[in-house]
Parts: sequence; C-alpha cells; structure tokens
Amino acid sequence: MTEPILQAKGVTRRYGSLMAVNGIDLTLQSGEFLALLGPNGAGKTTLIEMIEGIQLPDAGSIQIMGMSWNEREKEIRRLIGVALQETRFYDRLTTEETLRMFATFYDATDRIQEILDLVRLTDKRKVYTMGLSGGQRQRLALGVALLNNPALLLLDEPTTGLDPNARRDVWAILQDLKSRGVTMILTTHYMEEAENLCERIIIMDQGRFLASGTMNELLRNQGGGDILEFSLEPQALNSPDLHSDWSDTPGFIALEKPGQGRLRIIVSDVRPALQYLMQRLGPDSWNLRELVCRRMNLDDLFTRMTGRHLDHNATEN
Ligand SMILES: Nc1ncnc2c1ncn2[C@@H]1O[C@H](COP(=O)(O)OP(=O)(O)OP(=O)(O)O)[C@@H](O)[C@H]1O
Ligand SMILES: [Mg+2]
Repeated sequence: MTEPILQAKGVTRRYGSLMAVNGIDLTLQSGEFLALLGPNGAGKTTLIEMIEGIQLPDAGSIQIMGMSWNEREKEIRRLIGVALQETRFYDRLTTEETLRMFATFYDATDRIQEILDLVRLTDKRKVYTMGLSGGQRQRLALGVALLNNPALLLLDEPTTGLDPNARRDVWAILQDLKSRGVTMILTTHYMEEAENLCERIIIMDQGRFLASGTMNELLRNQGGGDILEFSLEPQALNSPDLHSDWSDTPGFIALEKPGQGRLRIIVSDVRPALQYLMQRLGPDSWNLRELVCRRMNLDDLFTRMTGRHLDHNATEN
C-alpha cells in the first residue's frame, strides 16, 4: 500500500477544560475526497487547522506524506492548499491582483489565468474584492488555495452562507479538481455537500468522530431504512388509532415523533409500508396534511445518534 497522504494519530486539542478535538485518528489516501460533517462547535475547524499547521495539537501526531510540521514545514506548505472558514482580502486589490500577490509567494504568477478560469472568475479579474459577491469571494479563496497546485486541499466550509446556485458552482469546481486527482478534506454542515462530493464522510460531534464511511456504509451501520412521515389535519389529530402501536407496519424499524403532530415511521422498504398506512388510516387518509416518503439521510442519522440536528437552521420542533 502506498504511503497515506495524511496520517493523524490521537490528535487532541483543549481550550481550558473543553476538549475541542478529543483523540482523533485519521488516515487519508491519495485521491480521496473526505467530508467532515458536524454541527457548530463540533471541532471541525480546530482539527483542520491542526492539519494545516495553524494550530498545534496538545497531544498526538500529524504526518503529511510522512512529514511532520515541526521538521518539514516548508515542504508541507508546498503540498497543501488551504482555504480558511473566513478569508479577508484587501478591499483595494482586484481579483487578479489578489491572486498575483499570493502567487508571488509560491512563484506561481504564470498560473493566474489558469486559476481564474478554473474558479470561473475571469470576467471579474478587474473587479475590486470588495465588489465580489459571497460566492465569488469563496471562489477566490479557493483560487488562492490552488495556486501552488496542491496535492492536498483543505477547505473549511467552502460554501457556507451561499445560495444553492452559488453552492452548486463551487461543487462543480471541486468535482473538476477531483477528476484531476486532487485529494481533499472539506468541512461542512450541509449533508448534501458531503453526499454529493465525497465518497467518505465522517460525522463529527463534540471533538470526536461518531461515524465514518461511505453514505451506504453509514446507513447500513446505523440500521438504515426508509422514512415515512406524515401528519393529519387537526380534526383527525386526536384519532386514538394514531398514537397506538405502529410496529405492525411491514418492515417496521422504529417510530419517532418529531413534533408538530407528525409521526415518522422508519421501515426497511417504504412501498408496503405506505400501502399499510393508507389502509390503516382508512377514511382518515382524507385528513392527511403532509405525507413524505424518503430515504434516510445524514441528518436523520445524526439525530438518531445524538438527539440533535446537524444544521442549526433545521426547523423541526
Ligand atoms: N480560540 C478558542 N478559544 C476557546 N475555545 C475555542 C477556541 N476555538 C474554538 N473553541 C471551542 O472549541 C470547540 C470547537 O470549535 P471549532 O471552531 O473547531 O468548531 P467547528 O466544528 O468548526 O464549528 P463551526 O461549524 O461553528 O465552524 C467549540 O466549542 C469552540 O467554542
Ligand atoms: Mg468551523
């Protein structure tokens, strides 16, 4: 087996009594795209900044292509590209001037046009950075991270705060990089981002890894299942039948009550379960206010493991 591009062992970082990162082991092979998914305060930035050499671990070791930060800092800097959770640019420099400034650090001024094309900012090259939209700024930060043609790209929430279109634009660029063989770790609290971009997903919470694997592995390890969720109009809500046992549902795995009068039945296959539901509701099926059948997603998994949601903007309850 070839040497991993990243190997972290027992990495720990405390802030006072808080364990921001608590004994993390992580190995990443060349060409992998890894998502670190977790809610606010999970420890994603702290961990990625230790990999980036910005923070020092209190305990544990980090090696990038077999090299450690305290011995081979210069070589590692040449291998990695970094985009922080928030990047501040000089307002009075244009997009192109900003790239040129960073490019001189890496002796990469000949790559500016290529980077502008790659992050789709060629038409904004003469625009001052203060005049860029949020999505364009994120793309510029990505462009800066790519100047040294990194083997390992470390992106901390590359699409937070962007609207869905701008987010998809960034995803397209990252897919493009993937096809060129770049290795990447990105942090996110958007499950769609992790699912769409990364074959391996690590769910992180309170400084620890809760689960790791491909989407299918995560679903399988947590019992998987399809979700049938419904609510009824208020006049039917007191129907005693609704609150009784649902374990006779075909393929029944679990019942959850997410609030707002909704019932969520987790089953192995949604089709027979749906048929059963309609039969059981009988005339009350006219009182269905909402009916959703879907595959289990990462937020469901996270909720199952922690009782909380991944994204603080999630609206349940
Ligand atoms: N400089 C610091 N001083 C004290 N506590 C800190 C510091 N930086 C982070 N923390 C704490 O460490 C924990 C992990 O923070 P971190 O920024 O790594 O989380 P995160 O997963 O990146 O969250 P977010 O999704 O909000 O960016 C949090 O509880 C945070 O309050
Ligand atoms: Mg963070």
